[in-house]
Amino acid sequence: MNTAEPLIAIENLRVEFTQEKRRAFALRGISISLYRNEVHGLVGESGSGKTVTSMAIIGLLPKPAAKILSGSIRYEGQELLFLPEDELRAYRGGKIAMVFQEPAKYLNPAFTVGEQIREMVTLHMGLERSQAEARAHELLGLVGLGKDDRVLKAYPHELSSGMKQRAMIAIAISCNPDFLIADEPTTSLDVTLQLQILKLLKRLKNMKSMGMLFISHDLSVIREIADRVSVIYAGKIVESTRMARLFEHPMHPYTRLLLMSIPDASRKGKRLATIAGQVLDAKDDPPGCVFAPRCPMAKEVCYRESPKLIAHEAGHASACHFAEEAWAL
Ligand SMILES: Nc1ncnc2c1ncn2[C@@H]1O[C@H](COP(=O)(O)OP(=O)(O)OP(=O)(O)O)[C@@H](O)[C@H]1O
Ligand code: SF4
Ligand SMILES: [Mg+2]
Repeated sequence: MNTAEPLIAIENLRVEFTQEKRRAFALRGISISLYRNEVHGLVGESGSGKTVTSMAIIGLLPKPAAKILSGSIRYEGQELLFLPEDELRAYRGGKIAMVFQEPAKYLNPAFTVGEQIREMVTLHMGLERSQAEARAHELLGLVGLGKDDRVLKAYPHELSSGMKQRAMIAIAISCNPDFLIADEPTTSLDVTLQLQILKLLKRLKNMKSMGMLFISHDLSVIREIADRVSVIYAGKIVESTRMARLFEHPMHPYTRLLLMSIPDASRKGKRLATIAGQVLDAKDDPPGCVFAPRCPMAKEVCYRESPKLIAHEAGHASACHFAEEAWAL
């Protein structure tokens, strides 16, 4: 168990979206502690609230559609929610940076990679032109794009998808952030590139002792990089533990089904599980467990009472009324 103070502490965060009078409960009270020098994986299906979590941390939830109903996000004890935009800007990019799934959406097509890095370090670190130039060279070297000046002078559309992702990582880490959020940074890449980017992120995290929130819908990707993992389902964290422990001793039925749905050499020959049923509609706000409609273990109490996220062993929490029962799913 990590006994240090978390760098970022998210507590009981509830976020809803309202669009044309339709409400969507995106986050239903999530709590996550994020530490320096640790990769925290956040895994869950599409629509479970992974991107909303990252946007809330970085202060980029779309307004006025998204409303924070309750909770807190503290950075070294400083509350980030409701900070004025100019104060938040000092955190964003400087202390907390983000790598997105789609580099195309983030990289500015009108500027070269070099210009975009120089702008970041001039803005946040106050570097002069020659220092900014040297920093851009150094960063591209760090992400494996530094052999010549070609990438520095290239516009985003002139780069391959792997190069774009590396360039975006260079921009994200340009101001030495303490914390990096990587939202599905490898999803659009082929397997070889995916592994290269994971290796690069791991190396950078170790080199710079950064904390990292690594988001993916794919547990086998999270397994490659994370030290700790939280499983999110329909806007709730249903299980959180050390990465290895999740595979040794999953406690939540959803996690167990998730594990059974990924190919694993130790289960060779066994059929992969699929999780039957539909994810809870974001507009529904049931009193009980969000997983009950799909859970093969659901009992009457599950529809009535929402299970709390409780630590059942040191550093291992699960939100299930029957987390400690031994089931054969
Ligand atoms: N701009 C928006 N307007 C309305 N509702 C939204 C908006 N963005 C997110 N939501 C709601 O929040 C929920 C969580 O969305 P989020 O983008 O965090 O999912 P995700 O886990 O990142 O999914 P994916 O794996 O597809 O990226 C969605 O199911 C949706 O109901
Ligand atoms: S609380 Fe009930 S419905 Fe929810 S995961 Fe546990 S057994 Fe399944
Ligand atoms: Mg997302």
